[in-house]
Amino acid sequence: MELKNDLILRAAKGEDIDRYPVWLMRQAGRILPEYRAVRSSLSGFKELVETPERAAEVTIQPVDILGVDAAIIFSDILVVPEAMGLEYQMIEQKGPWFEKTIRSREELKLISDSFDINDRLGYVLEAIKITNRELHGRVPLIGFAGAPWTILCYMVEGKGSKTFSESRKLLYTDPALAHELLSMITKVTIQYLKAQIKAGAHMVQIFDSWAGILGTEQYAEFGLKYISLIADAIKEVPVTIFSKGAITSLGSIGKLNCNTVGLDWNMDITETRKMVGKSRTLQGNLDPCTLYSSHKEVENLTIKMLDTFTSKRHIVNLGHGVYPDVDPEKVKTFIKTVKNYELRK
Ligand code: CP3
Repeated sequence: MELKNDLILRAAKGEDIDRYPVWLMRQAGRILPEYRAVRSSLSGFKELVETPERAAEVTIQPVDILGVDAAIIFSDILVVPEAMGLEYQMIEQKGPWFEKTIRSREELKLISDSFDINDRLGYVLEAIKITNRELHGRVPLIGFAGAPWTILCYMVEGKGSKTFSESRKLLYTDPALAHELLSMITKVTIQYLKAQIKAGAHMVQIFDSWAGILGTEQYAEFGLKYISLIADAIKEVPVTIFSKGAITSLGSIGKLNCNTVGLDWNMDITETRKMVGKSRTLQGNLDPCTLYSSHKEVENLTIKMLDTFTSKRHIVNLGHGVYPDVDPEKVKTFIKTVKNYELRK
């Protein structure tokens, strides 16, 4: 199916665009009452993720309601540890919870990196196919996976954490085990992203939500080393790497085989451009809390950000996922401001 709006792909590849493309991380859940209605008709988050027709429906909602320039498949990064053998639950108001964790060589036997992606993650691939069928090429569809380091964090910790100190502890007590686990996750992630692309994902994003809790050297060794293997393996579609909080690693990220570098709101666009260079697209990075201010202020702050862009190599987004209690009308103001912004450069 030919795409009617391919702005985001063009921006990722450094091709000409007549305005900046815009979408929001976590746009497919969280804020829309229409999403909550679908979710409450099912037993919970996991049933929604595992029911391709409904996952496709909530994937398309932000395209219809908010007017974003891309859809992102409704799923979660935690489907990968689950497929490898660690089942998770999504506990209301609390977040993810794994009954088993990997903290020793013995526990490493609980998981596998040799299985058929179609068997265990076929529901995501099916949701991608249905979504594209129903989108009729209106916008591109983004596939995604967690970066190996962030997935390791959940596998070792078994739940969310402020410090992820169990995960960081492992890097000191048994670095060889950490590397083995990261290699296994990397192998599955490459196959999984390739399967998403084959099913119809037009670009892919790697989310390294916990990149910023490691120092620069440790992030190079336990984070970027594995992201780099993934980036080298994906040649079919544009790749975005979002390493949240990894400010001192931006120069290294810019050298990876990716099209786009995702920025959180702590990162300065002008400084980042110097570190990353001109041959990568930057994605981001309005502070998600901006959307709690007035419509006028949302407009002003969005324009202020756009004014710092010095080339067409930008994809507009927030600096992290949109927060659950944000008024969708503020999101619309953000999107409208980007769409009305005159591209002078
Ligand atoms: O972007 C999208 O809207 C597409 C779907 C998507 C979800 N999770 C759905 C979801 C994506 C891209 C993710 C990525 C994800 N999941 C990340 C990386 C991005 C980031 O925010 O840093 C991480 C760390 C997770 C793990 C995860 N999933 C946590 C910690 C939680 C609980 C807290 C929270 O963020 O809501 C989830 C649950 C989750 N994943 C929900 C949604 C819509 C909320 C579930 C619900 O109550 O409906």
